[in-house]
Amino acid sequence: MFWVEGGHPLQGTVHVDGSKNASLPILAATLAIAGEVTLEQIPQLQDVATMRQLLQSIGAAVELLDDGSIRINAHDVRSSVASYELVRQMRASVCVLGPLLARFGTARVSLPGGCNIGHRPIDLHLRGLAALGADIRLEAGYIVAEGSQLYGAELDLCGPHGPTVTGTCNIMIAAALAKGRTRIRSAAKEPEVQDFARFLNAAGAQISGAGTSIVEIDGVDHLRGVRHAVIPDRIEAATLAIAAAITHGDVTIKNAPTTHLTSVLNALDLIGIPFEVTPDTLHIRASSRLRPARLTADPYPGLPTDCQAQFMALLSTIPGESRITDTVFPERFRHAAELVRMGADIRIQGNSAVIHGVTQLSAAPVMASDLRASAALVLAALAAEGHSEIRRVYHLDRGYHAFEQKLNQLGARIQRVNDGPKI
Ligand code: EPZ
Repeated sequence: MFWVEGGHPLQGTVHVDGSKNASLPILAATLAIAGEVTLEQIPQLQDVATMRQLLQSIGAAVELLDDGSIRINAHDVRSSVASYELVRQMRASVCVLGPLLARFGTARVSLPGGCNIGHRPIDLHLRGLAALGADIRLEAGYIVAEGSQLYGAELDLCGPHGPTVTGTCNIMIAAALAKGRTRIRSAAKEPEVQDFARFLNAAGAQISGAGTSIVEIDGVDHLRGVRHAVIPDRIEAATLAIAAAITHGDVTIKNAPTTHLTSVLNALDLIGIPFEVTPDTLHIRASSRLRPARLTADPYPGLPTDCQAQFMALLSTIPGESRITDTVFPERFRHAAELVRMGADIRIQGNSAVIHGVTQLSAAPVMASDLRASAALVLAALAAEGHSEIRRVYHLDRGYHAFEQKLNQLGARIQRVNDGPKI
């Protein structure tokens, strides 16, 4: 649990870690490489630890180096089963499906469990792998994918809510070791997908078009060991920027991938937050009068759904009517009810939240429900008058390393106390 004393404007400089959502698919893809891979800038997160456990559970050698890098050698991997226990903890475990199928011709991966941000199917992943020639079946809660030789194909990965980020990664890695050419239409364009393609190409893959909606992959016989540094985490950078804004602070965010944050910067500008950018630094300046805004979370290059909760917290503190819509996860509003406990005025209408900002949120005991909702509650507590209690902050640790320490170095007053057993 966090105890937060609100009302302190954040001041100073903070550093962004490597991207969680670039790291997880890349870690999974090492299973398709029978050689030594060294990954730099991998963040020290709970989800990364879970993925490391998963790789080790199927026989990969995983070594943490003194400089924070991770060395993986999947040469001796023999099993191709990702257990329910591990997949239940983290949906991104589904990223091992493509690599295991590509390398071993068979993969058994538990269907991911439910999630607090809405129904999260993997039908697009499975449809894509089937298009490459895999036989897919469901057996006792496990996806069983089989195909001793995959063949290049034309396929479209668009779902009801747009492209799929990890689905695009799964198909890219499977196609990278298939025979012939694959063309993926409606591919996800996220920077993390682009970083994934850069990693695979460095390992010998032939991928072009990553970052656009059409990605072409010419299959190769094998991938070789490689050294790769993952990109900075644009969502952590955005979260820190909103923390500065909601406390009317003055914060310089270093190692910020500002070229991946155009939609976030546009939203900050719309709200009236003064800032300066360089290619790797975002300086949020103290603000006074902020404006309500209408924002929509869309697939990249749109506003990231992973920042939707954090912007909701900010808009809750700006008098006037704001609206935030999420077209990617239309039900991702569990944080709204907790913000209302802190005095926010928010009504959910379909895939939108209508917010009437208040001049002051009030401290209250609240409960985190998922990773980005936890971040939103911390931001709201930083702005609220008095002491807030935020329970179940283990959700936060999945995607932010030592988040309260970073904020306290900027002048926040957050104390972490034992949260009791995970439920
Ligand atoms: C990735 O999840 C991210 N996680 C999520 O970040 C992020 O919110 C999401 O992309 C959207 O940007 C990682 O990269 C590890 P999707 P992913 O497949 O790949 C629907 C965070 O907080 N869909 O792009 O699982 C799906 O229901 C996490 O860091 C299907 O219908 O998301 C959603 O509505 C949360 N069928 C939309 O597509 C499928 O087969 C986008 O999902 C797959 C997805």
